[in-house]
Amino acid sequence: MELEDLPGVGEATADRLRDAGFKTVESIAVATPGELKDAAGMGESIATRVINAARESLQMGFMTGIEVLEKRKTLRKITTGSSTLDELLGGGIETQAITEFFGEFGSGKTQLCHQLTVNVQLPEDKGGLEKTAFYIDTENTFRPERIIQMSEALDLDPMKILDNIVVARAYNSDHQMLLAEKAEDIIKEKNIGLIVVDSLTSHFRSDYTGRGMLSERQQKLNRHMHGLQRLSDIYNLAVIVTNQVMTRPDFFFGDPTAPIGGHIVGHSSTFRIYLRKSKGGKRVARLIDSPSLPEGEAIFSVIKDGVRD
Ligand code: GTP
Ligand code: MG
Repeated sequence: MELEDLPGVGEATADRLRDAGFKTVESIAVATPGELKDAAGMGESIATRVINAARESLQMGFMTGIEVLEKRKTLRKITTGSSTLDELLGGGIETQAITEFFGEFGSGKTQLCHQLTVNVQLPEDKGGLEKTAFYIDTENTFRPERIIQMSEALDLDPMKILDNIVVARAYNSDHQMLLAEKAEDIIKEKNIGLIVVDSLTSHFRSDYTGRGMLSERQQKLNRHMHGLQRLSDIYNLAVIVTNQVMTRPDFFFGDPTAPIGGHIVGHSSTFRIYLRKSKGGKRVARLIDSPSLPEGEAIFSVIKDGVRD
């Protein structure tokens, strides 16, 4: 189905929408009327009608409880390398969901991302999916040398493991969104089981500065997250995003992890895990606001071999 198939969308409007990044009916279905208004210069009521038509054509929204249950039976989990962290997560990182690691610099977010690109390739009885990984690297911190160390520690062929990780550098927030939108072809071709976005927020922070741009930043991020959620649903894959927050040791009241610049991800992730550094190189992971798991903490470590208890 093409954009032109939607009622009220002619060729010229479709082109304007595509230019603004709305390339698929799905992207229209998860947009807000305000976004379409800006992108295609259409009136608010027409925008609403177009969005509703897109949603209807995709039959979004309705499933019986049994259908939801059946879909959840196909859900898989990837081990993190730490049994305590896996336990906190109810068995590992879930497919059909977005898991967000947030925490200060050096808290282990990137290390976990690296470890999971290796672990997703493990056979199912070892905690993997026997699938490959797609890594969107926004801070130039992907290190093949680390993947080699982690692979060797698991007796895996490092070159094979590296060959099964597709890495894309994202140069700004629009580029980052484009990479996620284009991921679909790679997902099918390479049998991707995990998408990593490390970091989700750094480009958005620097591309949209100042109060006046907050709502635009939030809208774009929402769209990005919806796009990732949709891929995880359709292809039964796991999505991991990272988000750096500053700890505020001087802060006695309220949330000590309040990120400077505000909570820009909000609650569009299914699982949110707050990471912090602890004594002796240990890391503490805390599960926040999970839909089905109890809140709790797990202690793990990052060593030369990778993520461990
Ligand atoms: P930012 O991206 O800056 O926000 O931090 P991050 O949360 O991504 O931190 P990252 O995952 O990069 O963690 C870096 C830390 O991991 C280092 O400070 C080390 O403590 C640990 N680490 C990384 N590589 C090694 C290694 O080869 N051996 C050991 N023992 N530790 C390592
Ligand atoms: Mg990092």
